[in-house]
Amino acid sequence: MNHFAVGVLLLSLLSASILSVDSRNTGSDVLKLPSEVTEFIGRSGNNEDHDSVGTRWAVLIAGSNGFWNYRHQADVCHAYQILRTGGMKDENIIVFMYDDIALNEENPRPGVIINHPLGGDVYEGVPKDYTGNNVSVNNFLAVLLGNKTALTGGSGKVVDSGPDDHIFVFYSDHGGPGVLGMPAGSFLYANDLITVLKKKHASGTYKSLVFYLEACESGSIFEGLLPKGLNIYATTASNAVESSWGTYCPGEFPPPPPEYETCLGDLYSVAWMEDSDIHNLRTETLKQQYQLVKTRTENKNFRYGSHVQQYGDLGLNKEQLFLYMGTNPANDNSTFIQENSLPSFSTAVNQRDADLLHFWQKFSKAPEGSPRKFAAQKQFVDAMSHRMHIDQSIKLIGKLLFGMEEGPEVLKAVRPAGQPIVDDWDCLKTMVRTFETHCGSLSQYGMKHMRSIANICNAGIKEQQMAEASAQACIRIPNNSWSSLHNGFSA
Ligand SMILES: *[C@@H]1O[C@H](CO)[C@@H](O)[C@H](O)[C@H]1NC(C)=O
Ligand SMILES: *[C@@H]1O[C@H](CO)[C@@H](O)[C@H](O)[C@H]1NC(C)=O
Ligand SMILES: *[C@@H]1O[C@H](CO)[C@@H](O)[C@H](O)[C@H]1NC(C)=O
Ligand SMILES: *[C@@H]1O[C@H](CO)[C@@H](O)[C@H](O)[C@H]1NC(C)=O
Repeated sequence: MNHFAVGVLLLSLLSASILSVDSRNTGSDVLKLPSEVTEFIGRSGNNEDHDSVGTRWAVLIAGSNGFWNYRHQADVCHAYQILRTGGMKDENIIVFMYDDIALNEENPRPGVIINHPLGGDVYEGVPKDYTGNNVSVNNFLAVLLGNKTALTGGSGKVVDSGPDDHIFVFYSDHGGPGVLGMPAGSFLYANDLITVLKKKHASGTYKSLVFYLEACESGSIFEGLLPKGLNIYATTASNAVESSWGTYCPGEFPPPPPEYETCLGDLYSVAWMEDSDIHNLRTETLKQQYQLVKTRTENKNFRYGSHVQQYGDLGLNKEQLFLYMGTNPANDNSTFIQENSLPSFSTAVNQRDADLLHFWQKFSKAPEGSPRKFAAQKQFVDAMSHRMHIDQSIKLIGKLLFGMEEGPEVLKAVRPAGQPIVDDWDCLKTMVRTFETHCGSLSQYGMKHMRSIANICNAGIKEQQMAEASAQACIRIPNNSWSSLHNGFSA
């Protein structure tokens, strides 16, 4: 047995013993009615803390796959470790990750994932609730709603929460205006997420919910869409019109260990987690963390940074992080003070260029004439040609629909702040499908064009017109993994 397997075994033994202690405690609570007893055992979360906060639930999701996206799964594993150290139990933490990183042939430390250049393993013990193609929009939404019958695959763990419970959601991935990525199947569209959050609220199964979101244009997921009054507080890595950033990338300072040819984390994610790692979360508030993360993520001048935003019921940010993340007893004396904020980053890599950086690193470090060099070159060229194909097709479709002059203007228009990117989300999905039918998959890079496609809807273009323009713009679907339709449609 290797170290990792031993670790997992130890951890599961450990959590099994913790569980049995808890059920003994709750078993003594004989005054409960039978129906409540099962509820109580199911939500035995934090009674040892005597703070009557209900149970803490967390959903952690990395929406990407591929070694070039190492950082998203590293972020999510790190978040899991914070919650575990904070006292939460596996039964209340639901993890979505493709799980192709730890044992990836590119991983210089097999079985290990790190989220900081000097950091230890964050992979050990992470529950494999939803992995591979089970990381999907359908399962994510079903888990949030606590609807087991709606699941397709996975561990079956859902947010089975009650009215006093607190829910924490952390999502790290690629995104674009109005969408978040998933490794399998369609993107997650903002309106579908908001609809589910409203449903969850209507079901009366939480007290408050905090959503931390790392993705490009992540502000667009909530802006003009998340109403107040749902007891939801969200912060996002970026506003609705800018990218978010990878960090601890090769060539940055601090760089990852030299054997890593990929970024280890993301700027906003690492900022909140490195803060949560060291502070007493009983005293630090969501607002304090928001401000610290905002400063650290803007990275002095925004050249390599983004504008962290907050949405929803901002009054909730007076609450302690403890309610959502628990707290590590070892940090009891480490109270938050503004001045002890963590160092800012030197540079960062745009989410959308981190794959190219990986292929380039791999290419430049591989021995001359080796199969590895050849493979990396092909990956780089494929990614670049996919980008050019998507960029050119969208641009051309704009010109075909709106004319040579007007086309580019219509596509790049940004609606006033506070408005969602589109009013008719069904139209947006239809247009994405129509585009992909003729031009191939948008894929993670192509998400950047969601605003242009939304603007095509906002201009009142009909499906038939879009189909004709797409057919004219794309004579055939290029034959490479990025542009193919093997992974199905993004809508
Ligand atoms: C759960 O999902 C199933 C299948 O999608 C659906 O039929 C059912 O109405 C859902 N239940 C609730 C309570 O929403
Ligand atoms: C999805 O979940 C099912 C049920 O747990 C499991 O059998 C299957 O292996 C999972 N698929 C992947 C790709 O992980
Ligand atoms: C915190 O400080 C108190 C008083 O100095 C000390 O007794 C306690 O051990 C410290 N706790 C931790 C976790 O360091
Ligand atoms: C696509 O490319 C692969 C290998 O590069 C080749 O095997 C396959 O036949 C090609 N498919 C089409 C439809 O051209």
